[in-house]
Amino acid sequence: MKIGVLASGSGTNLQAIIDKLHRDENVNVQIAVVISDNEHAYALERARKAGIPAVFIDMSKYPSREEFDEEIDKVLREYEVELVVLAGYMKVLQPPFVRKWRNRIMNIHPALLPSFPGTHAVRDALRYGVKITGVTIHFVDEGVDTGPIIAQVPVPVYDDDTEETLHNRIHVEEHKLYPEVIKLYAEGRISVRGRKVRIRR
Ligand code: GRF
Repeated sequence: MKIGVLASGSGTNLQAIIDKLHRDENVNVQIAVVISDNEHAYALERARKAGIPAVFIDMSKYPSREEFDEEIDKVLREYEVELVVLAGYMKVLQPPFVRKWRNRIMNIHPALLPSFPGTHAVRDALRYGVKITGVTIHFVDEGVDTGPIIAQVPVPVYDDDTEETLHNRIHVEEHKLYPEVIKLYAEGRISVRGRKVRIRR
């Protein structure tokens, strides 16, 4: 199965997917393309180093967000992508794109949704004072971090945690969970009905 990864930043989740799926000949997952809205995203460099096509799409060249998304859609189709994987992609995909790729876009979020959606999930959880936060992988719908939940794992919050130490611990779980879930999807074990996602193991 060919996947396309969208990333805006450092791309440690992308790296986990490269190492655990793309490089494993026994797993039927190939990263066909990595796309970024940020020319300097280290994710693009990680893709190049792994011999994966890395494409920067400059949002300022498009008159609207929808047209920017259309360009992303065009590139994904060129590379015959079947599943879109968001890995630290910082732009919100617009409804026409989401409709075209319904239940074929996954996102990873560093909190237990529906708690702490949005850009500062780790900081928000820490400030709120929760004792347990975690990782959520979900399908993307028209809202922000609101789509059907595929998998979650908890991460404890310690009294002396900073945003950085907590995010580091969350990352460790993300790097295990995302490749696992993508593999299950590639094996046809994940189905969606309304908001309910089932995994056949
Ligand atoms: C991850 O924590 C992910 O949950 C969030 O953005 C971060 C991306 O990290 N959506 P990286 O670029 O994969 O290192």
